[in-house]
Amino acid sequence: MECRPPVRFHVQPGGRLTGHVRVPGDKSISHRAVILGAIAEGATQIKGFLRAEDCLATVCAFRAMGVNIEDKEDGDLIVHGAGLYGLQSPSSALDLGNSGTSMRLLAGLLCGQPFDLTLTGDASLRRRPMQRVTEPLIRMGAAIASNKRGTPPLRITGGRKLHGIKYRMPMASAQVKSSVLLAGLYAEGQNCVIEPAPTRDHTERMLAGFGYAIKKEDGKTSLRGGGRLRAGTIEVPADISSAAFFIVGACIAPGSDLILEQVSMNPTRIGVIEILRRMGANIKISNEKTAGAEPVADLRVRSAALIGINIPAELVPLAIDEFPAILVAAACARGATALTGAAELRVKESDRIEAVSLGLEACGIATKPLADGMIVHGGQLQGATINSCGDHRIAMAFAIAGLAARGTIIVQDCENVATSFPEFASLAAQAGLDISVER
Ligand code: S3P
Repeated sequence: MECRPPVRFHVQPGGRLTGHVRVPGDKSISHRAVILGAIAEGATQIKGFLRAEDCLATVCAFRAMGVNIEDKEDGDLIVHGAGLYGLQSPSSALDLGNSGTSMRLLAGLLCGQPFDLTLTGDASLRRRPMQRVTEPLIRMGAAIASNKRGTPPLRITGGRKLHGIKYRMPMASAQVKSSVLLAGLYAEGQNCVIEPAPTRDHTERMLAGFGYAIKKEDGKTSLRGGGRLRAGTIEVPADISSAAFFIVGACIAPGSDLILEQVSMNPTRIGVIEILRRMGANIKISNEKTAGAEPVADLRVRSAALIGINIPAELVPLAIDEFPAILVAAACARGATALTGAAELRVKESDRIEAVSLGLEACGIATKPLADGMIVHGGQLQGATINSCGDHRIAMAFAIAGLAARGTIIVQDCENVATSFPEFASLAAQAGLDISVER
């Protein structure tokens, strides 16, 4: 995945977003559907699975562990579960590409298996902190070695007996919570995770959907190991993190009126809507229903004059992946927007505080990067060439910024858009973004 030809986006000013768009399936839910399907009993049918590199890395990893995963012509994925104890030793290291979710969740799931294995990834993933998962997993009895700085590859020694722990997470991270819960499936006794603030709860919802007993109250989630998961059907809603680029685009491009269909409205994911509404966005929610374990709705977004705000700290974990797009909205708003309490952005696929700040500055917008966030002074974006730092969300956020810029925006290194949203450029062009893709 690392030696692909470079991809550059060229965006001309003047577009507006209209019509109906259905963005692809939710990345977090797609990963979890494969992971839990693989250890369930029976066949799990996944409808609306996100066929993007990150989720396909999870699929490859389970195929390498002997799980039969069928690709159906209608786009569904069928995972023939091997049961809780049916995974087989892979013949080589599992390469998880750019996918932090795969690495952190698989570290939890696989540290209680009877075989040794190694988890690795691309250059960006090999720089990301893994101590946040290895520390609690080792406390549960796992044997995991990483590089000196706590980065991948992770070398897991199998055959360890795990025991449940009570783990108070130092940061609000759904990946850490999920990793510890998945390890708990193989642990003796009760395993309990306490989160400092609510984070996405797809693992908990899906475990319950697979018939696994899981208890959640006051930020504490507990389960006991050794239960059974029963396969079923999973409907993956449209990813609000992908929809976010279109939501922001429709807010900032005058004359926009866009409908985004069947977007995931899980309360732990809708921070972007709340933040943009506080900035004056015109977002109407309709057709609310549930798709399996998750709420979904249609969103109608019309352009609006945005104003700068202080983003409330409690909304930060609920919008953690959407800040590249939200900060582009802030650049188009009247006045200053302050984001704090978001130090996690420094350890995503890139240092997103630095990447957004450099990109906005290149567009003529004044920013003040902070250790845990950024102040953005709204103004008029100019054309510029942007370094996406190989980060899919930085690339898409600046492509969308082109809707409000005075000149051409060129975004470099957009190959990794394929990790979460391969159809981004074509869907954005259909909706009205004047984008061309140079390969
Ligand atoms: C994810 C959780 C988030 C998010 C990531 C996906 C998940 O990470 O940034 O893109 O699927 O659990 P953290 O939980 O580490 O914040």
